[in-house]
Amino acid sequence: MTKPLIEVSGLYKVFGNTPEKVMPKVKEGLSKNEILDQTGHTVGLKDINLHINRGEIFVIMGLSGSGKSTLIRHFNRLIDPTEGQILVEGTDVMKLSPKELQEFRRHKMSMVFQRFGLLPHRKVIDNVAYGLEIQNVDKNTRLEKATEWLDTVGLKGYEDQYPSQLSGGQQQRVGLARALCTDAEILLMDEAFSALDPLIRSEMQDQLAELQEKLHKTIIFITHDLDEALRLGDRIAILKDGVLVQQGTPDDILLNPADDYVEAFVKDVNRARALNVETVMQPPAMRITAETINDALAQMKKSAHDYGYHITDEGYQGVITQDSLEEAVNGNSSQEIGDHLYEDVPVISPDSAIEEVLTESIASDYSLPVVDEDGNLKGSLEREAVADIFSDKEEETEEEKSDDDSDKESDSDKK
Ligand SMILES: Nc1ncnc2c1ncn2[C@@H]1O[C@H](COP(=O)(O)OP(=O)(O)O)[C@@H](O)[C@H]1O
Ligand SMILES: [Mg+2]
Repeated sequence: MTKPLIEVSGLYKVFGNTPEKVMPKVKEGLSKNEILDQTGHTVGLKDINLHINRGEIFVIMGLSGSGKSTLIRHFNRLIDPTEGQILVEGTDVMKLSPKELQEFRRHKMSMVFQRFGLLPHRKVIDNVAYGLEIQNVDKNTRLEKATEWLDTVGLKGYEDQYPSQLSGGQQQRVGLARALCTDAEILLMDEAFSALDPLIRSEMQDQLAELQEKLHKTIIFITHDLDEALRLGDRIAILKDGVLVQQGTPDDILLNPADDYVEAFVKDVNRARALNVETVMQPPAMRITAETINDALAQMKKSAHDYGYHITDEGYQGVITQDSLEEAVNGNSSQEIGDHLYEDVPVISPDSAIEEVLTESIASDYSLPVVDEDGNLKGSLEREAVADIFSDKEEETEEEKSDDDSDKESDSDKK
């Protein structure tokens, strides 16, 4: 196992004059509001434990005020914790000397800001080269690198413009090029795309995903938007009032939202677009491996199924029903299974979004065979599983409510 790049443990941040004095109340479990009322202190973060792996896009999501910026600012020590530890490559960032900290900020991490944070009186090229300038890289080298990165983000030819001459999307590309230009391994992106129009924003998301395929940076990406989180995140952590309420892969979050707060985010998402076939499929219920009709029928009769997926050395062949086998037996039963026995059932790919196979799945009498590029049967997609994606999972939510003090919903009849 490789060690995580960043490890956060037992992290607390309380804002106010005497945070240490307030800590006992925080640990007792008083709410953020109670602490504020009683002490005038604000709980920014409460007992955060997480790790971030090298090369992943780790998304931190939550509503405004939930502590996202506070958390990300701990990583490069723009904020000191009230309690807890942050290790970056095993180094405790609290133990860095001022000089080491400066080095760390210049070389290890770079930040992309929501409001782009460009220097208005500098040309685009000099904005991009800025990080190298403070690293004392010589002028030719830094201009050369900056030109390359501008090209990479699609802004070739804009070198001598000033930021105000560019659109919002272009300015944020400059911000991105600037962050990438330092070669820092870790990119911190605090709502970097939130100020952009939806269409531009979506383009930026695509571009970041595309860049990441080549660069394999470690990207810590903050957003309040679940669609964006699902699109970009390898893993997602969800904050509420300074508490980490859930972390997991996009599929974990979509399929098993931890509480009403996460559920509320998830409700708005088109799950059929966000989930792919592989996530929703089951192992194939019935594989028929026999070569002759007789053997196939025997195999089928031993099972509880009335149809199955015929597999040979060459992979998936087709769907066969017990009925058609029985009919065929009346003819020559030692005959090999042939094309005429297969039902007319479409084959789907594990990588397709559920949305793409929705019509076929609902129209088919059989669970659709999921077949990979090499022709192997990977699973089958049940109509019920597809239907479940669209249900709100009411039962589950109600069960969960009984161990929850929430009185928001009238139907939570606790005793
Ligand atoms: N410097 C500060 N002083 C006092 N309270 C702060 C400070 N920074 C953040 N907070 C409070 O901490 C909480 C988390 O804020 P923040 O991390 O900015 O949230 P987010 O980025 O998720 O919108 C909020 O209640 C905010 O008011
Ligand atoms: Mg913020």
